[in-house]
Amino acid sequence: MPPIHNAALITGASSGIGAAWARALAAEGRPLVLIARRRDRLEALAASVQVPCLVLTLDLAQRDAPERVMRALEEAQVEVTTAVLCAGFGWYGPFVEAPRERLLELVDLGARCVVDLTHRLLPAMLARGGGELVVISSVGALLPTPRLGTYAAVKCFELVFIEALYEELRGTGVKALVVCPGPTRTGFAEIAGVNGEAAGPLTIQPEDVVRRARRALGRRPVEFVGPTTSLTAFLTRFVPRRLVVWISGLVTRNLGRRAG
Ligand SMILES: NC(=O)c1ccc[n+]([C@@H]2O[C@H](COP(=O)([O-])OP(=O)(O)OC[C@H]3O[C@@H](n4cnc5c(N)ncnc54)[C@H](OP(=O)(O)O)[C@@H]3O)[C@@H](O)[C@H]2O)c1
Repeated sequence: MPPIHNAALITGASSGIGAAWARALAAEGRPLVLIARRRDRLEALAASVQVPCLVLTLDLAQRDAPERVMRALEEAQVEVTTAVLCAGFGWYGPFVEAPRERLLELVDLGARCVVDLTHRLLPAMLARGGGELVVISSVGALLPTPRLGTYAAVKCFELVFIEALYEELRGTGVKALVVCPGPTRTGFAEIAGVNGEAAGPLTIQPEDVVRRARRALGRRPVEFVGPTTSLTAFLTRFVPRRLVVWISGLVTRNLGRRAG
């Protein structure tokens, strides 16, 4: 295969926001590196677009996954100028009832892998004097959320990490953005064990997230997307935190299949 220049690497590309992001970039002719565990879905996506695609089937919660990504990029001679880190999942239910391995997987995927991949991909972008780094966090980053506490904490980690990095990268030509969507119609709710219909008409489409985020990239460090995010941002700014957490607990009490 000839070297691939100006590629966009997308984690979590097999579904939802990652897949929508991949389709948007492919429509502009960008070569893609598609990463997730479900190979059939990645291959179907690669076959549906008219751009070169490198498909990597990897469990990114595994410690050696970022190193394997870099090895694959080197072998295929792929130059990554955009990284969109979407891979993630939630787990709804009483903390003590959650399978410990699942919680640790959530932390490894949302925190460890994001830091590791970012640390490996940034030096080449800095050397070229340009690049784009996007991490998909959540509006949950603003809320300590009972029954979704580990997820909210990981999303908060991503928010703080990228906000700080945005400032560090000022003047380097590398743009960083953290995106905080509200409830979005993807595979997320089913996997998290929450009732995906609870947010009803307030639910947004993954394409909305991608459109808004791409407009914000390079202009500001954080983009909140969706009608529920404005209310949450208001509550978290003006209402005492303990009250916010209590309200959050009320909202999530009957949110899903695993309510205890
Ligand atoms: N949907 C929402 O309501 C919502 C709201 C706010 C934020 N978000 C965030 O948006 C991001 C994308 O989620 P989504 O809504 O698009 O949900 P989704 O449709 O379930 O997509 C999640 C993606 O992550 C990948 N993934 C999960 N575990 C992985 C692992 N161990 N290794 C590699 N890939 C893995 C999945 O691929 P495989 O299963 O094929 O590996 C899939 O491609 C997540 O970070 C989520 O926290 C979602």
